[in-house]
Amino acid sequence: MLEEHRDAAPGRSGPPAGRVVLAGVGADAHSVGLTVLREALARGGFDVDFLGVQQDLTTILRAAGHTDAVLISNMDGHAKYYLADLRAARREAGLDGQLWYLGGYPALDDRAADLDDLGFDRVFQGYVSADTVLHRLRDDLAGRPRKRARRARRSAPIETPVVLPLSESDRREDVLPAWRTGAAALDRAANADRLRARTSLADRQREAKARREILVQPRTGVSSVEGQEALFSALRRHGADVLSFQIDSLTRNNQYEDIERILKAAADLPPEASQLNGYPAVNLGLEAMARLSAMFGDTPFQVRHSTRDPRLLAELTFGAGIAAYEGGALSYNLPYFRDYPIAHAIRRWRYVDRLAGRYHAEFGVTIDREFFGVLTACLVPPCVAAAVNVFEALLAAQCGVKSVTLGYAEQGCRAQDVGAVRAIQRLGEEYLARLGLRDVEVSVVWHQFMGAFPRSEDKARQILRGSAESAVLSGAVRLMLKTHAEAVRIPSLDDNRESLTLVRDLCRARRTETADDQVRFEEELVVAETRAIVDSALAAADHDIGRAVVLAVERGWVDVPFSPSRWNAGSALPLRDCGEAVRFAETGLLPFPEDVKAFHRAAVAARLRRDGDDVVALLERDLSATARGEFDDWPLA
Ligand code: 5AD
Repeated sequence: MLEEHRDAAPGRSGPPAGRVVLAGVGADAHSVGLTVLREALARGGFDVDFLGVQQDLTTILRAAGHTDAVLISNMDGHAKYYLADLRAARREAGLDGQLWYLGGYPALDDRAADLDDLGFDRVFQGYVSADTVLHRLRDDLAGRPRKRARRARRSAPIETPVVLPLSESDRREDVLPAWRTGAAALDRAANADRLRARTSLADRQREAKARREILVQPRTGVSSVEGQEALFSALRRHGADVLSFQIDSLTRNNQYEDIERILKAAADLPPEASQLNGYPAVNLGLEAMARLSAMFGDTPFQVRHSTRDPRLLAELTFGAGIAAYEGGALSYNLPYFRDYPIAHAIRRWRYVDRLAGRYHAEFGVTIDREFFGVLTACLVPPCVAAAVNVFEALLAAQCGVKSVTLGYAEQGCRAQDVGAVRAIQRLGEEYLARLGLRDVEVSVVWHQFMGAFPRSEDKARQILRGSAESAVLSGAVRLMLKTHAEAVRIPSLDDNRESLTLVRDLCRARRTETADDQVRFEEELVVAETRAIVDSALAAADHDIGRAVVLAVERGWVDVPFSPSRWNAGSALPLRDCGEAVRFAETGLLPFPEDVKAFHRAAVAARLRRDGDDVVALLERDLSATARGEFDDWPLA
């Protein structure tokens, strides 16, 4: 796939400017910078062997033979640790002919000198434009003999695991013992009683729709039960309509042993000293979550996470009486993991969806399943979010889920964002009906801007305000709240309290008009693009939904920009147009009709005419403008 992509890069003729290996090291899955650099190198005529994020030294060394340069990125400040053996390993492998660059945020603040003896020819600490890297590389390579030998592709061929038939499901007996708190969730009848005793998100959303209200939801997760209780009661008092447990990152990676150690060590420390960045729901167990949700029984709860294996957490969530669970096989996979086969993810999420479905079928309790249409958050064209939401809604409904909430993160162009929400609502209903999946309630949740925020609090508040107005116009039933401190910290109670007041007042008071023709145009565009994606996949899989989803990713029809996943094609490329709407600079393998492709080409061509013709430089600008506060007002257009 990369090979095709490379050949398609414009401006490429004659022998390559050089052969380079490009890789990320470290646990971090952030892949935006790496993707931009790959694009710049390919467009600059280099032959790029793109290894992606989370690589180890052995793989990089194996790739490095017969190349002119090795470019390594590290984003978590621990390059010294990951690359300690580089110099010795290179000597041993006889790899001394090429240039070695290190970039990203390889050292923690003020520690760049620590990197001096790792053996790199150049170290870039902090943001450097792709153009700068390209120029340095060309200069450094000038006059050196180029490596010409053809390298064989060493990455193992990708094998597509077969999606299990729907009838096959993992057994609860195998899931619950994964951690000792699991057994408490066994009795589903008792769990159903708890679920029935509390207000469910599905009910609350139906009621809000009838009253044409928008619900406001802050994110909250701390590592102790007492801390969580204090947060919930304060936020409830300040008008939060929905409360959520934001789960910590270790739970998301199913590292329960590590959490246990941290919780033990933290027992004598003040709560602020906690090393966990959210609520460790599995370790703290069902009883604690049940008690907390019972204290605020008239307020719907939700669990938000991005867990790789979501099964045990789902069991405990439902067992605790919480009837809303976020995530899905694509949306909690493609933005987060380097190597998580889609079919494996579908199997695990089917367990979650069937469990939710059975609570409905056997006990009449509706559990809402929400999908993270935010994806990588940066310049995600709305049809990508829409297609992912439609696929996950179909997967869930097929397992008996009766309430789905489709997620959309605003990109900053009001007409496009409002049109996108309306399209997503329509498409969700349309495809469920077309596949005969009846009686499923479809809602849309609006995420306030999910890309990097400006550090300026005033600029951040501009986003919060403009975003709330767009959300109301869009008809979304719920709003996920951001705060003025987003760029600086996980929001504190005070941060969330201020934002709640600001956003709720706006939601109530303002009814801003919008340019309806433009909104309708954007809505129809998203509908046409999404239908092309979903219909292609359904047709190719003979309407087997699981297979359709696997094929959609494999063939590059669902293509999430900047995804760290090796399963994601990465051949489509977004860019803003002159009106700040997100378009495709490259449509890659997307199965769009010719007129849709032509529309994107024209929109991007107009931008290039206005702002100069360096696509990568414009992409870098689009990716960083909001974080740098380089906007007059929000929405952008
Ligand atoms: N509490 C509150 N908000 C959180 N976020 C992440 N973890 C927590 C937590 N424990 C927020 C981030 C970002 C979003 C993805 O989630 O600030 O806005």
